[in-house]
Amino acid sequence: MPSEEFKQRRKKVMREMKKRSMALIVGHSASVRNGDVEYPFRQDSDFLYLTGFDEPDAAAVFLPGREEGEFVLFCREFDETRALWTGYFAGLDEAVNQFGADQAYSIEIFADKLPELISGYERIYYPIGGDAELDRQVVDAVSNLKGKVRSGVRPPRQLHDLAPLIHEMRLYKSEAELEAMQEAIRVSVRAHRRAMSYCQPGQYEYEVEAEIAHEFMRHGLRSAAYPSIVAGGNNACVLHYTRNDAPLKDGDLLLIDAGVECHGYASDITRTFPVNGKFSEEQKLLYECVLKAQLAAIDAIRPDRRWSEPHDAAVEVLTRGLVQLGLLKGRVSRLVRDEVYKTFYMHKTGHWLGMDVHDVGAYKTGQEQEWRKFEPGMVLTVEPGLYISEQCEQVDSRWRGIGIRIEDNIVVTEDGCRVLTAGAPKTVDEIESLMRGDHD
Ligand code: GLY
Ligand code: MN
Ligand code: MN
Repeated sequence: MPSEEFKQRRKKVMREMKKRSMALIVGHSASVRNGDVEYPFRQDSDFLYLTGFDEPDAAAVFLPGREEGEFVLFCREFDETRALWTGYFAGLDEAVNQFGADQAYSIEIFADKLPELISGYERIYYPIGGDAELDRQVVDAVSNLKGKVRSGVRPPRQLHDLAPLIHEMRLYKSEAELEAMQEAIRVSVRAHRRAMSYCQPGQYEYEVEAEIAHEFMRHGLRSAAYPSIVAGGNNACVLHYTRNDAPLKDGDLLLIDAGVECHGYASDITRTFPVNGKFSEEQKLLYECVLKAQLAAIDAIRPDRRWSEPHDAAVEVLTRGLVQLGLLKGRVSRLVRDEVYKTFYMHKTGHWLGMDVHDVGAYKTGQEQEWRKFEPGMVLTVEPGLYISEQCEQVDSRWRGIGIRIEDNIVVTEDGCRVLTAGAPKTVDEIESLMRGDHD
């Protein structure tokens, strides 16, 4: 991501705030797993969005109109001994030279320096309730200044939530952000294709997961955007299945929901395919019903259409399909109205996608809190499914133990939308042909 882009984002945040305001935000600290072992570090997405600074224990302060500089970064001071153990990390000089801070200080003095930095501003913007320690530090800094009013100090009088302001910006992706997402998608598509080519009855789910992880990493992308779901047969009916430890059976479907991240931007792809490479009759009928619903949902995405429309389109097609297959009985309109379809389709059809897999950004807006209209640059998933578990006694046993989801990533364009994940086989023919080895 070009450093100019981070600079523009910071400028925009400062422009969007009310007059006489300053803002602050903190990054994540490392989480300790035990002893000297830490969990893999992932920066807070809002912090990363505004600073590009991808190390633990940092804080950023934005001070519009301040003579000594508007952007102050607090981070760990470089220290040779520490670097010997952990490897290189940026210190105060790099914070200025590489990350564009006007001034940099040690994170150790953040709380002590805060009263001085907020002094003279009327309002503080920060992510209220996002970090208990920051909540306390902000309040402490304000009360510190209140103790000095007799010497002419003016403490801020209003606290505003910074998060919605950043989240609104994050909802609209720039060219550079779309490039990062497309790179994540390019690699994730390769991983899905590799999983399809590799899969055989008798393998364990984790063996397929390993192929996916290897494909992510060999392209230089080391972090999955979320734990991969590799779910054979009935396991696909567990929506957040991540055990990935069961053997894959001949005759079952395999649902894979896996996506990698690139420069902090997620991809989120699901494909469902037969373990043995050939759909059974029932699997094919259900699969094509989900596919039809997915295409109808995608068709409902274009500027001025509302967030709810793809979901409504998918529900209508799925319900109609279930009636045609004899799995639901009654009038489609009634089954939709009474949400009877939820026995087989219990989640929503998508979510915003960006730095977080379930990305930020309001779904409803305005006084009336209506579903938001799509606008160019928004990125979302479309992921309808059908889930008929082995315990579902209301349908004939031949339909049971089948979970199907098809998930693509879509960007809204000026005149419609573009499917970014089209490289992952999706029709029955495309999937069977890849699994037969006709391609690649
Ligand atoms: N992979 C999480 C989701 O599809 O929402
Ligand atoms: Mn998703
Ligand atoms: Mn997913």
